Amino acid sequence: MKVLVTGGAGFIGSNFLLTSVPTRQQDHFVNVDSLTYAANLANLRDIEASSNYSFERVDITDKTAVFQLFERVQPDIVFHFAAESHVDRSIVGPGQFILTNVLGTFHLLEAARAQKTPPHFHHVSTDEVYGSLGDHGLFTETTPYDPSSPYSSSKASSDHLVRAYHRTYGLSVRVTNCSNNYGPYQFPEKLIPLMIRNALLRKPLPVYGNGLNVRDWLYVEDHCTAIWAAHERGEAGGTYNIGGNNEMTNIDLVKTLCRILAEVTNCREGELLDLITYVKDRPGHDMRYAIDASKIKRDCSWSPAETVESGLRKTVQWYVDNQQWVESITSGQYQQWIEKNYASR
Ligand code: NAD
Ligand code: DAU
Repeated sequence: MKVLVTGGAGFIGSNFLLTSVPTRQQDHFVNVDSLTYAANLANLRDIEASSNYSFERVDITDKTAVFQLFERVQPDIVFHFAAESHVDRSIVGPGQFILTNVLGTFHLLEAARAQKTPPHFHHVSTDEVYGSLGDHGLFTETTPYDPSSPYSSSKASSDHLVRAYHRTYGLSVRVTNCSNNYGPYQFPEKLIPLMIRNALLRKPLPVYGNGLNVRDWLYVEDHCTAIWAAHERGEAGGTYNIGGNNEMTNIDLVKTLCRILAEVTNCREGELLDLITYVKDRPGHDMRYAIDASKIKRDCSWSPAETVESGLRKTVQWYVDNQQWVESITSGQYQQWIEKNYASR
């Protein structure tokens, strides 16, 4: 199989390639990425010399480049991870989210259906398309779409396009909507790596609003196994929610990180807890996400391997051991962006 992976130099894409390339020697993986601020090819050092891996620098908003890529590669499967992924950035500047997430997905779909033998198209999406839950209930595959941010609206839009290509043109598609991921190689603007980095640097830990918003956490490698399960055992045209049944309020999560970090780095937990600072809330901040993953468990025989405690422990240890990676990816451009956009908070 020729497997085209978009966004393979980002957080989840890197983990997907690092776990798939060595174990699926019979398949050839082509990583397609434009290398935005969120990308880091160094993540892929362990596989970059593998004979079943190659890299193509292509911007999916460039229609001609995407069509030429499909002609060259003629993929059997497309796993589409590439996106602008950070909600706060979408609030500051939504334009690139529309270009990459909507137009970029459209170009990939068009290139896919133009192939003599169109590939299977797996669209990696988010639970944020469903909007916000109250105190009770879970997102199922039939929950109506109700996105709140420019990011989630752009992902909702791309989900609809992908399903339309199945219904209209018969493209073999699958859509997976996953909850919050965490693990190695996550860009430190997202909650968990940001808190770990700031705590290590003894900088404030900025909790939005009252800290009672709830997210449902999933270790990134469990997301990767779920994607393969949906591809291999899911049905064409199917939608699968992915989640680890690990709901936590943000403040409880930050306190848990402080506890684990204190153990791992042998410091006083209270010293880290004192860094917690409540800051101005995110506009349109969704209150609660929680996934009902029973469909993928039942139909695709998938289940997560990590508990939130084991996954967080692995993650904290990884960030403690890889502070050089964090500093290399956050220097320069990112630091300037933070100073410009977060200074007023
Ligand atoms: P990320 O921001 O870490 O990585 C995105 C990657 O896409 C980067 O390597 C970037 O260079 C690439 N990219 C961006 N624009 C591009 C373009 N125009 N052309 C080609 N490449 C481009 O994102 P992530 O957290 O790894 O998320 C991957 C996917 O999973 C996204 O589609 C996201 O919506 C979805 N998702 C993420 C989470 C999460 O918690 N991180 C949860 C559910 C779903
Ligand atoms: O649910 C899946 C989504 O999870 C993915 O689709 C997105 O790509 C991914 O970024 C993530 O979105 P969130 O907005 O939930 O993630 P983030 O890490 O930005 O924030 C998690 C929660 O923590 C959210 O309630 C906002 C809060 N937060 C975030 C940051 C960065 C803080 O309190 N302080 C912070 O500094």
